[in-house]
Amino acid sequence: GFRRSSESDDPDKPLLYVLRGLGLTAAKFGCGLGQCGACTVLLDGNAVRSCQVPVSAAAGKTVTTLEGLGTSGNPHPLQKAFIAEQVPQCGYCTNGMIMSAAGLLSQNKKPNEADIRSALDGNLCRCGTHVRVVAAVMRAAQGG
Ligand code: FES
Repeated sequence: GFRRSSESDDPDKPLLYVLRGLGLTAAKFGCGLGQCGACTVLLDGNAVRSCQVPVSAAAGKTVTTLEGLGTSGNPHPLQKAFIAEQVPQCGYCTNGMIMSAAGLLSQNKKPNEADIRSALDGNLCRCGTHVRVVAAVMRAAQGG
């Protein structure tokens, strides 16, 4: 029979696990320690590490995942720019890069390269795509 597990009601459960359990799998589990950025989502427009946010802390707030940023038919300017600059290599960090950049652009419409580097400082990429990431965010900030 169906039984709600107590785990699914756990207010301390990381937001990342709840989102992924709902089928929203753009946010990735990388380190689980707040150190890689793969799990980044927006909470009321601010980039947060969803592996470090208890689901209870999202109550009453707007959570935006990469799925909510744009669609393949109507991509967000950042998604267009990441495609135009051919950013992804393995792609594991891409969610976090785009969501951190989206958080930056919501606060600073015209970031310079130093602003972008600083906003994405905590997002790790093992493939070495950082130069293309910065180029893509600059492109998006300049209107594509
Ligand atoms: Fe959350 Fe690495 S999985 S920061």
